[in-house]
Amino acid sequence: MNLTDRSKILITCAKGLGDWVANELEDLGYEVLIKRSNGVEIEGDWLDVMRLNLELRTALAVLYLFHEFNASRPKDYYKTVNSLPWEELISPSEYISIVSRADTPTINNTMYVGQLTKDAIVDRIVDKTGSRPNSGPKRDNIVINVFWMGQRCWLYLNTSGNKLADRGYRKMPFKAPLQETLAAAILIASGYDGSQPLVLPMCGSGTLAIEAALIALKRRVGLLRNNFSFMHLLNYDKETWKDIRLEALKKGAKKLVAPIIATDIDEGAIEASVNNATTAGVAHLIDFSVCDFAKTSIPKVNNGIILMNPEYGERLGDVKELEKTYRRIGDFFKNSCRGYSGYVFTGNLKLAKHIGLRTSKRFIFQNAKIECRLLKYEIYEGSRKSKYQVDGDA
Ligand SMILES: C[S@@+](CC[C@H](N)C(=O)[O-])C[C@H]1O[C@@H](n2cnc3c(N)ncnc32)[C@H](O)[C@@H]1O
Repeated sequence: MNLTDRSKILITCAKGLGDWVANELEDLGYEVLIKRSNGVEIEGDWLDVMRLNLELRTALAVLYLFHEFNASRPKDYYKTVNSLPWEELISPSEYISIVSRADTPTINNTMYVGQLTKDAIVDRIVDKTGSRPNSGPKRDNIVINVFWMGQRCWLYLNTSGNKLADRGYRKMPFKAPLQETLAAAILIASGYDGSQPLVLPMCGSGTLAIEAALIALKRRVGLLRNNFSFMHLLNYDKETWKDIRLEALKKGAKKLVAPIIATDIDEGAIEASVNNATTAGVAHLIDFSVCDFAKTSIPKVNNGIILMNPEYGERLGDVKELEKTYRRIGDFFKNSCRGYSGYVFTGNLKLAKHIGLRTSKRFIFQNAKIECRLLKYEIYEGSRKSKYQVDGDA
């Protein structure tokens, strides 16, 4: 397969991030063909594949459509998959992993589709080369994604491998960290682009602060990784990838134009944040300190963003105690953060009501299995909500 061979490209994402991935793609100049909550389809070639793996902040994987066909029985499915020229793409010295999803009457176990696909590919390679590639669950070599829905089958080359959320910097997760792609989407939703001061009390393991620094520097997140699945395919063009990376390294800023301040009451959280930010190469750009959120020093500006991700009682923290914390967040916004847009990311709307301020915008996100909201509060004199305002409804 040549660098210029075009096909459909499916960009997968965590449920609920489809809009944010589509926005990123449109900003990069792609035409979005299909948009779903957990994925977006475009068309492109292998240069696009490399570029997207490097650029996308909110996506999980870039899947290049290799073959699309009809099959109703496992036997027909095996036959078609086995007839494809896998030996031109996969060296027998590589390791293959299959990710399968099936919803078709002749299959009642989706693992069986994975097994069938692996057998068809491996048998073909053995037949053509005399050697057998290894296979298993590890995602850091060659990954093939299969969807078999009704009569229709799609075989994708998963060009990312391990999910793109795994940027490689979070060595210390601390408690309840946000997935990196979700943190990036939250920041983008808040309008953060690096030009405004950003204050992140309750920063936990530092995910929001690190993603913010990467956004502010316009640093391509894929530069943090040195392994993608496309590098293991026989059509991998090392020189072109080197050029694309070098080009990306030249872009972006060295310094921030506005500060990023990140605090947490827990020393362990700040230790984790500093470590993670160091791995990401941005620790020197973030002002970290240990303190209660209400003691965070807030630069006096009129265009700042303050963003908090308090515990919300599902995984951590006790609800009664948290009610007090949310009330204190409202007081803190009102008394100390004038001139800022305040954001709270939470999975508990009952707790959010205790903030007691009027929300001006709400974004729905999914954090693992919990539906969450990013709530925006305009903070100015008189922003206390009227007693009739029902807050946190969405
Ligand atoms: C849900 S975690 C934040 C996770 C973070 N977004 C991440 O990705 O790692 C909430 C954080 O709030 C911190 N926290 C709780 N009460 C606090 C307080 N009164 N002042 C400052 N930080 C507090 C906890 O230590 C914890 O790290």
